[in-house]
Amino acid sequence: MSVVVLISGRGSNLQALLDAAVPVSAVFSNMAGAGGLAIAAARGIPAIVVPHREFSSREAFEAELAAQIDTFRPGLVVLAGFMRVLTAGFVQRYAGRLVNIHPSLLPAFPGLDTHARALAAGVKLHGCTVHFVTADVDIGPIIVQAAIPLRPVDTPDTLAARVLRQEHRVFPLAVRWFLEGRLEIADGVVRVKGGDAQLVFDDS
Ligand code: GAR
Repeated sequence: MSVVVLISGRGSNLQALLDAAVPVSAVFSNMAGAGGLAIAAARGIPAIVVPHREFSSREAFEAELAAQIDTFRPGLVVLAGFMRVLTAGFVQRYAGRLVNIHPSLLPAFPGLDTHARALAAGVKLHGCTVHFVTADVDIGPIIVQAAIPLRPVDTPDTLAARVLRQEHRVFPLAVRWFLEGRLEIADGVVRVKGGDAQLVFDDS
């Protein structure tokens, strides 16, 4: 199955997917300077920029992006730090085969600045979520979560680093389950055939 990955920046999650031998057939970025483009190119994977700023509307940008994505006939489209909000039309086109990673334990802290907001809220548990994408931003059936306890010394930066390590653990896991056809959704709840744990807890 062909997997297409969308990024906007550094690409550390893309790297984790590649290191886990996910069969990525193309990487797209809306940002020309995204570090992840070089990661893809170094592996001989097409690394394609569709610069959103050059389009007059969100719909026009997405139409071009989707047209190019579809040339790779993806069975799965992965958002790995893709920082553009997607319209319902785009999400519908890839319904059931579009997944995202978000740096919080959804439904807590959708949107941006999740680590600073978790600290400010005084939550004792934080983490990341891999989920199917639906038309609402950062909401959608949850495939797997990784949780870490907050420490008194944590800052937004230390939390970001600790959560990112967990992202690199659970994102390949979720994609692997999808590729193996093991994910079932019923009433908005995802289960993994075989009963693998959909929660990783790491207090190291
Ligand atoms: C990751 O922390 C990912 O969870 C986050 O962007 C970062 C990308 O890092 N995504 C979002 O905030 C999406 N709402 P990376 O480019 O090194 O993979």
